Order: sequence, then structure tokens, then C-alpha cells
Amino acid sequence: MDFLEFIKSRRTIRKFKDEPLTAEQLKRYIDAARVAPSAANIQPLKYIAVASPDMSEKIFPLVKWAGYLAGEYNPKDGEHPTAYIAVCADTSIRQSGYDVDMGAAVENMILAALADGVGACWMGSIDHEKISELLEIPDNLKLLNMVALGYPSETPEETYIKDDSIKYYIGENGNLQIPKRSIDDVLIKTF
Ligand SMILES: Cc1cc2nc3c(=O)[nH]c(=O)nc-3n(C[C@H](O)[C@H](O)[C@H](O)COP(=O)(O)O)c2cc1C
Repeated sequence: MDFLEFIKSRRTIRKFKDEPLTAEQLKRYIDAARVAPSAANIQPLKYIAVASPDMSEKIFPLVKWAGYLAGEYNPKDGEHPTAYIAVCADTSIRQSGYDVDMGAAVENMILAALADGVGACWMGSIDHEKISELLEIPDNLKLLNMVALGYPSETPEETYIKDDSIKYYIGENGNLQIPKRSIDDVLIKTF
């Protein structure tokens, strides 16, 4: 596939097959995050990989899915993510200003997973305290976001924005519809 088409084919996945990922797979996705652009090349980000199905199940109640759909689109039993990556800032390296680095790193990670046929949901709506406790995250690491991972069992679709709403919704075909601004909306001018 053309690389632009590959990037455009990525959609957030929230329903997964009950198939585990290996620790080696997660290591490769973290390796992709590792080489992302970093402001002043400070590289403050650190990661914790969760390939264990048991630990993944313990994380599940501590993350929130598809806020616009208020629980209607929560993964059901057998659709839960089978792995997670915790994205942390090492505050002994940088005390603030790591969020932009995180954006670049997580996108690298998600695209590396996609190349393996693995779907991902980037998760900011998480119980930072309880997950930090559960994963025994050391004091110098601040948990920023989680990335839920697994083989997809849904096919969300990009759609156009109607009635000015950017809220995703369940389409008539049962697939999640993700309204995206058009290229003409976002490209303001070209010199
Ligand atoms: C910083 C960030 C935090 C997010 N947090 C959550 C979350 O907590 N739960 C969730 O279900 N989706 C979350 N998402 C996924 C977005 O809802 C999703 O990217 C958006 O609806 C666009 O869909 P797409 O990724 O398929 O293009 C998050 C995305 C980003 C970038």
C-alpha cells in the first residue's frame, strides 16, 4: 500500500480479537516510539509493556472508552485489548514540556503496530493513580497516557463532517463513523 494510504487507513480500534500479542511485538512498537522526533533531542519518554492477558484485564476497568458514546461502545467480554503500553515521562530527565514528544512517539508506535495488523486505542482518559500503582511505576516516572492494543475486530470508517459535528457515531452499517475535516478545510493556503 502507498504510505499515505497506509497512514490514512489507521483508525482507533476499541474492539479486539481475543488473541495475545507477544512481548517481542510490544518491544518493536516501543522501538518505533524511541526514534520519534524529540524537542532538543532530550528523549524524556519511557515505556512499560503489558503483554500479560491477566495484567491487561486488571487495567481494563481503569480506562474509559469512546466518551462521546457514553458507555454504548465499551468493548464487551472477549473484545478487550490483549496488551497495553504505558507511556511515561521520566521527570529526572525533563520536568515538563514532554507532551509534544509524546504525540510523535505514540503515533510512531501506533503505525508500527498497524504495519503488523495490530489495532490501537490511544487513551488519555485513564485512572493515572490506580494504573501507576498496579504497574508499580517508579516515582521518577509520570504516567502520561496508555495505548491499548490487539488484533482488530471492528472496522471504523472515516466519514465527512455533517451538521458541524466532529463526534463519532455508530453508522447504519454498525461501524463506527469518524468525521474528519476535509483537506480543503485544513489547508488554508499554499504559496
Ligand atoms: C491524546 C488522545 C487521547 C485519547 N484518549 C482516548 C480515550 O481515553 N478513550 C478512547 O476511547 N479514545 C481516546 N482517544 C482516541 C480518539 O477518540 C480518536 O483518535 C478520535 O476519535 C479520532 O479517531 P481516529 O483515531 O480513528 O482517527 C484519544 C486520542 C488521543 C490523540
